[in-house]
Amino acid sequence: MTTSMNAIIATGYGSADVYEYRSVVKPIPEPNEILVKIHATSVTKAHTMMRTGYPLIGRLVMGLFKPKNPISGTDFAGEIVAIGKDVKKFSVGEKVFGSTDEDGGTYAEYVKVNQNGVILSMPDNLNYVQATAVIDGASTALPFLQELGKISEGSSILINGASGSIGTAAVQLAKYFRAEVTGVCSTSNVEMVKCKGADHVIDYTKEDFTQNGKKYDIIFDTVGKSSFNAVKDVLSENGVYMSPVLGLRLMTDMIKTSRSEGKRAIFSATGLRKVTDKLIDFYFLRELLENGELSPVIDRIYQLPQLSEAHRYVEKGHKKGNVVIDITGEAND
Ligand SMILES: NC(=O)c1ccc[n+]([C@@H]2O[C@H](COP(=O)([O-])OP(=O)(O)OC[C@H]3O[C@@H](n4cnc5c(N)ncnc54)[C@H](OP(=O)(O)O)[C@@H]3O)[C@@H](O)[C@H]2O)c1
Repeated sequence: MTTSMNAIIATGYGSADVYEYRSVVKPIPEPNEILVKIHATSVTKAHTMMRTGYPLIGRLVMGLFKPKNPISGTDFAGEIVAIGKDVKKFSVGEKVFGSTDEDGGTYAEYVKVNQNGVILSMPDNLNYVQATAVIDGASTALPFLQELGKISEGSSILINGASGSIGTAAVQLAKYFRAEVTGVCSTSNVEMVKCKGADHVIDYTKEDFTQNGKKYDIIFDTVGKSSFNAVKDVLSENGVYMSPVLGLRLMTDMIKTSRSEGKRAIFSATGLRKVTDKLIDFYFLRELLENGELSPVIDRIYQLPQLSEAHRYVEKGHKKGNVVIDITGEAND
């Protein structure tokens, strides 16, 4: 059995050039761990921020002066190749997908995952690239919509950044919850956002959604380009402005409105929720994927040695849906 593997290493925070493609020691699973041969992983906007170490608050989780784990990456879809002696829930040969979150380790050929972590068998109808592509966006969008936004049948929701990773998932999930969905995106993404189920699409290069007289129960600004102040007049009476992008402005608005009976601003770091809560969401998302009620949008696919290039592309902020790394070269078959 080979004891080494190829991986991308970052020994400090920095630009996309910080990454080095190297041979490293292959992980050995502990008694309650699973060794996954990773076929595909993703590169998300959040990963580019983890790489730079900004905003600084993220370093409390990622490592103060350098990343705790020199192998970054959080999402994986792959095959179980070994299990520890106490693993009862999984077996060798099973196809699985999941997330290692702040533990990282997926920019590599193998990763070890605790059997009680965020890992579950893959949807039958997806290949490895498709399975990994859906993880970040859908698992972020779902708790925002369900727990924080309390979305329900007939809610009117506006999703800003509807063409991104979180946005494309949010549009589909909001439709699943029978909300009336308005997606906001640029001209080249209008058709795609409509295809994903949005009832109305606003091209932000032509129209300002705060000026057309419509009101919304939920404004989910997936890309943090707006603000509570800018949209509060187009929120309905008890409407919420939610964003996964934390800045000083949103933090202040959240504190100011936290006791309000009326309009509120909300942020959450969904990746830091309890594993049990995340797993409930993943099982639910898997069902939607298998029923065809949720499907990934894939923009570009790179190979592992091209990780820096993938990060440079994602960092520009214009990707359509998701960017995936095909580690085996066969993950999209
Ligand atoms: N809080 C959490 O737990 C959490 C978890 C995951 C991610 N995040 C954060 O959430 C943010 C979004 O992540 P993501 O992966 O969904 O982003 P993304 O996929 O990189 O979003 C890019 C999309 O946004 C569109 N866009 C750019 N400027 C826009 C504007 N002014 N108005 C509307 N759309 C615009 C882009 O298309 P055009 O340029 O063509 O418009 C592109 O399709 C990131 O900042 C990430 O760090 C937070």
